[in-house]
Amino acid sequence: MVVRGEKGQLPRYEPVLDLPPLSPEQYEALRHHVALHGVLVPILVDGDGPVRRIIDGNHRRRVADELGYDCPEVVQAGMDEAEMRTLARSLNLARRQLSQEQRRQLVADQLVETPGRSNRWVAGRLGVHHATVASVRCLLESTGQIDQCPALLGADQRLQPARKPPRAVLRTPEERRARLEATTLLHGDCRDVLPTIPSASVDAIVTDPPYPEVRREYGRMTEADWLDLMKGVVAEARRILKPTGSMVVVLQPNYESVGRMRLWLWEFLLWAAREWNLVQDVYAWATDAMPLAGTGRSQGLTRQSVKTCVWLGPPGCYRDQDRVLKTPSSRTSARRRSDLAVREGRSRKGYKEGTLAGVAAERGGTTPFNRLPISNGRQPGGHGDHPSRTAYDLAAWWCRYLVPEGGVLLDPFAGSGVVLQAGLDEGAGQVIGIDKWAGYLDIARGRIVDE
Ligand SMILES: C[S@@+](CC[C@H](N)C(=O)[O-])C[C@H]1O[C@@H](n2cnc3c(N)ncnc32)[C@H](O)[C@@H]1O
Repeated sequence: MVVRGEKGQLPRYEPVLDLPPLSPEQYEALRHHVALHGVLVPILVDGDGPVRRIIDGNHRRRVADELGYDCPEVVQAGMDEAEMRTLARSLNLARRQLSQEQRRQLVADQLVETPGRSNRWVAGRLGVHHATVASVRCLLESTGQIDQCPALLGADQRLQPARKPPRAVLRTPEERRARLEATTLLHGDCRDVLPTIPSASVDAIVTDPPYPEVRREYGRMTEADWLDLMKGVVAEARRILKPTGSMVVVLQPNYESVGRMRLWLWEFLLWAAREWNLVQDVYAWATDAMPLAGTGRSQGLTRQSVKTCVWLGPPGCYRDQDRVLKTPSSRTSARRRSDLAVREGRSRKGYKEGTLAGVAAERGGTTPFNRLPISNGRQPGGHGDHPSRTAYDLAAWWCRYLVPEGGVLLDPFAGSGVVLQAGLDEGAGQVIGIDKWAGYLDIARGRIVDE
């Protein structure tokens, strides 16, 4: 029932915000529904005067007018303009089927209006993930649409230093669309999702799974449960990979108590090597991990300086050494080939440069060092709200090495998508990520488009 103004006139309605229009199909569906049932959910207005601002329900109001129906109202008084706009955005984000771009636009509008508020504050008001806000903020800052604030006001009314903004990559809308089109994010337990992926359809799997006996917000597993999970994943991986495909599992050991390591990593490695094949033992060395850093007692991790990359696949699996080895210049190669002087190596054994170079050429190259010195420092930026992101440079190294140009990359424990992001950067034509936490996949989506 509409409450008339003092002189019996019908009130005038004005939207608080211009929101994305409904598609013709959506509008028709709403009209049909209202025609059948009337307006069941009251619209939200700022008062009962002659001019009423609609905070929520512009379309319901319009359809009711068209059909000559009553449109029930709820009054939410006492809000200022900015508060009404924030509430309008939040209600639309929660209820409407908005495209990713439309959702990001609403977040952008809010950031333009309240650039000094923290990402979490904005996220809380709008009901979106704070990583989404961080990614939109980054884009707005990099295009000069908002200023970079040195400090942001949080929900507790305290100023917090603003996080270092993510590495801003300016992409055209077409590039962003292409990256999203090349990405498939599947929400669910990978044990349920992997069986839906066709056999022999993937070129490489690079993954950083959860580790057992480690407390994370995504849960904690016993060693036995973990081995069970990974055995299932490896079996599926072998089915899904093309005959020349291989899989890398990045693992960080941990201990039961100081002086007593847990053995799950080596148990898995031995089992998988016997079942399938260990292509090479490879270790990622975080050159900047301080002694004891990362030894989170609360989590149960050992220091993160060395991780084992368990590389499984057929002995002749695809790898492109040219992309990871530094190639000597042709002059250096020629000099090496013709250098037949006997020299003494560090082990005091004699060797000839020419013989080594000849053998390398004959065998089709050398094996890269199996220790990858990779700094943790260059982490992806503002979408970094995953508790255990993978170092970007490590993911990129493996993708360069194992994913053919235009190939398909899979990460069954994709988290916030660092491996997928690196895969696309290194030329993968399609990347597929699975995670059982939908929130992480939201972060991944932002990362893939903006970082
Ligand atoms: C170490 S994190 C991956 C980090 C990721 N590479 C990144 O950079 O953000 C492991 C991920 O596995 C996910 N996970 C754990 N168990 C899973 C399961 N059974 N199926 C799918 N995802 C799972 C967790 O939610 C977590 O995001």
